[in-house]
Amino acid sequence: MKILVTGGTGYIGSHTCVELLDNGYEVVIIDNLSNSKRDVVDKIEKITNKKVTFYEGDCCDKNILTKIFKENEISAVIHFAGYKAVGESVLNPLKYYRNNLDSSITLLEVMNDFGVKKIVFSSSATVYGKPDKLPIKEDFPLSTTNPYGTTKLMIENILRDLYKSDNEWSIAILRYFNPIGAHKSGLIGENPNDIPNNLMPYIVKVATGQLECVNVFGNDYDTKDGTGVRDYIHVVDLAKGHIKAIEKIIKSSKVDAYNLGTGNGYSVLEIINTFKKVNNVDFKYKIVDRRPGDIDACYADPSYAKKELDWSALYGIEDMCKDSYNFVQKNK
Ligand code: WQD
Repeated sequence: MKILVTGGTGYIGSHTCVELLDNGYEVVIIDNLSNSKRDVVDKIEKITNKKVTFYEGDCCDKNILTKIFKENEISAVIHFAGYKAVGESVLNPLKYYRNNLDSSITLLEVMNDFGVKKIVFSSSATVYGKPDKLPIKEDFPLSTTNPYGTTKLMIENILRDLYKSDNEWSIAILRYFNPIGAHKSGLIGENPNDIPNNLMPYIVKVATGQLECVNVFGNDYDTKDGTGVRDYIHVVDLAKGHIKAIEKIIKSSKVDAYNLGTGNGYSVLEIINTFKKVNNVDFKYKIVDRRPGDIDACYADPSYAKKELDWSALYGIEDMCKDSYNFVQKNK
C-alpha cells in the first residue's frame, strides 16, 4: 500500500516515513526542501533498508501533484507540508495563509480528481488557544492566537466541510502537542539551521556550545515552578500515532480529531534539569521576560486517541532529552 507523505523530509515527516516503511507500507515523498535537506531521504532508506520514491516539489503546484498520482497508485496521504513558525506567521501572515491554505486545497483537489479520499492531517494543539482547564480534550473550544494556528484551524474546517459534502472521505486530524527527541539511530532529528524558536532545539544548541545561554521566558506563570508547562512527546511516539491513524482511515469513513500528547506536563526548568542530568552536561540559563502569546500550561488528555486509535505515548522525558542530544552529537 502506497502512502504519499507531503513534507516527508521534515522533522515529524521523516520519522513517520521510517515508521511507515517499518510497518510494510510503500512511501512516496513530496517536499520542496524549504525547511529540510535532500539527504534525509537517504537516511530514511538507511534506517529502514527500504527504498523511498522522492519528488522535489511544492504542494501548491497542481502539475507535480498530478504527476505523482499518475505515476503512483496512492492509497492515502499524510499531509505535513506547511510553514510552522508561530513568530514568523505573526510578522508575515500572508505568506502563511497563501502557502498553508493553497497547498492543502490543491492537494485535496488532486486527491479528489484521482478518487483518493483518505488523509491524515498534521494539526496542532495550538488550535485550543488558551484552554480554560486541563487536561485538554478534543471537544474543547477551538480558538487561535496567531496566523500559523489559524491556518491549522481553517484547514481542519475545510476537511470537515469536505467530509460533509462527500462521506466517502476518511479523515484523521492529529493535534500534536510538543514534539521533541529523535530516532535512536541519531540519523534523523530536529536541527534547524537558524536560531531555534522552540525550547529543545535551543537547549541542544546551548549544550553543544553553538549558542551562549538558554533564555527561560518567564518564571511567574501559574505553574509548579513558575515556568511554562507543556506536554512534550517523543517524535517517534508521534510518528507511531500516524500509523495508527492510517489504519483507522483505511477501515472507516469519517472525520475526527485526536490529541497526540502524553498527558504529562513538564516545566521549562524540569526540561533543563532533566536534560543536564541524563546527558551529563552543564550549560547556562537565565530567567527573562515572558514571550508574548505564551500560555501558562498546556497538556493533553490522550484517552480518546487511546480508545479510537489504540495509541498512547511510550517514551518518557529522559528518552526525549537523551535522543535529542544524541542526534546533534552525531550530526555536528
Ligand atoms: C515551550 C516552552 C516557552 C523557548 C510551539 C508552537 C506550537 C507547536 C510547538 C507547531 C514555553 C518556553 C521556549 C526558549 C523558553 N509548533 N521557552 N525559552 O510555544 O509550546 O509551541 O511549538 O505546531 O504550535 O506554538 O513550544 O518550544 O516554543 O516553548 O523558555 O528559548 O518553553 O515559553 O513555555 P510552544 P516552545
